[in-house]
Amino acid sequence: MNNQPIKPIILGIESSCDDTSAAVLVGDQIKSNIIATQKVHESYGGVVPELASRAHQQHIVPVINEALKVANITLKDVDAIAFTQGPGLLGSLLVGTSFAKSLSLATNIPLIAVNHMEGHVLAHFIKEDEKQVVPNFPFLCLTVSGGHTQLVKVTSPLNMTVIGATIDDAAGEAFDKAAKMLGLPYPGGPLVDKHAKSGNKFAFEFPIPNMDELNFSFSGLKTSFLYFLKKQLKLNENFIQENLNDLCASMQHTIVTAVLNKLTQAAALHNISEIAIAGGVSANSYLRDQLNILANKHGWNMFIPKFEYCTDNAAMIAIAGKFKYVQKQFATLDAVPNPRLKIS
Ligand code: KG4
Ligand code: ZN
Repeated sequence: MNNQPIKPIILGIESSCDDTSAAVLVGDQIKSNIIATQKVHESYGGVVPELASRAHQQHIVPVINEALKVANITLKDVDAIAFTQGPGLLGSLLVGTSFAKSLSLATNIPLIAVNHMEGHVLAHFIKEDEKQVVPNFPFLCLTVSGGHTQLVKVTSPLNMTVIGATIDDAAGEAFDKAAKMLGLPYPGGPLVDKHAKSGNKFAFEFPIPNMDELNFSFSGLKTSFLYFLKKQLKLNENFIQENLNDLCASMQHTIVTAVLNKLTQAAALHNISEIAIAGGVSANSYLRDQLNILANKHGWNMFIPKFEYCTDNAAMIAIAGKFKYVQKQFATLDAVPNPRLKIS
């Protein structure tokens, strides 16, 4: 009898926002994860949906070819094609979905539709080697990206519930909008992180958002930051240049504290000490430092993915696809992109 675990080869395709990505997964291990980041949005201060779709169309074939080449695999070896069905920008999702369906039709390779947010959570199960420790169930995952801020309770790979979410802006959006007000290019999150390293987080005090239950809100903070800057600039037109590092450190401290307060509350409420983070903002160095402090204080087992699996990538879509492959949850050719797809 063969007791070997199934090691399917999955081609993952991600195109929900402004990164075109393709990855090859064999079993639990990633053999390639190619990401083409779109530079075209930098000067606009945010993602321009139409430009994003056009760039996906240009990138998708070379990115998939490169992923297969780096993994040293041909399409004949692939057991399933996993693609991002949503949530995301409709035009961007349409490119990945249409391409995945056409490829499946042409090759007869089964198709798997993946929820992008489930992908972020399941990225924790990508193994660099056999010894890598993965979260035990149930665990909590804080997903903080440019489009989403969610607290997810994960009871099994394909069984997760959103227990808290933002009612307006996402945490990454708060970073990016604050950065824009400070004159920094898009995406401003990493630049705020960089400047904050030389700043004093207590230099300026902003209200720490605190919503009911386990929800988040960042639009009030954005407005108070805007009015604060306007007032200071009237008094001193060089206010931002003279205080950039302190402004970044104070804003970063406010956003991160708001997010971690809710995570701490959720862990206590659900009595869970397996804690994971995901999404682009989990790359933030202050967030990571504060998380380690909290993990020591509360005895949490922390899981933080490798940087390339934090931001948008197809490796996470491929691993989510693997879980669905094992359960034989295949999609049909009438699958359509869903910009508002919810976690099941
Ligand atoms: O997950 P992601 O790549 O794309 C979305 O699904 O949105 O997240 C991108 C977000 C952007 O808002 C970016 O500014 C933020 O993640 N980000 C950071 C850092 N690196 C990326 N925010 C704060 N500090 C960072 N180091
Ligand atoms: Zn994302």
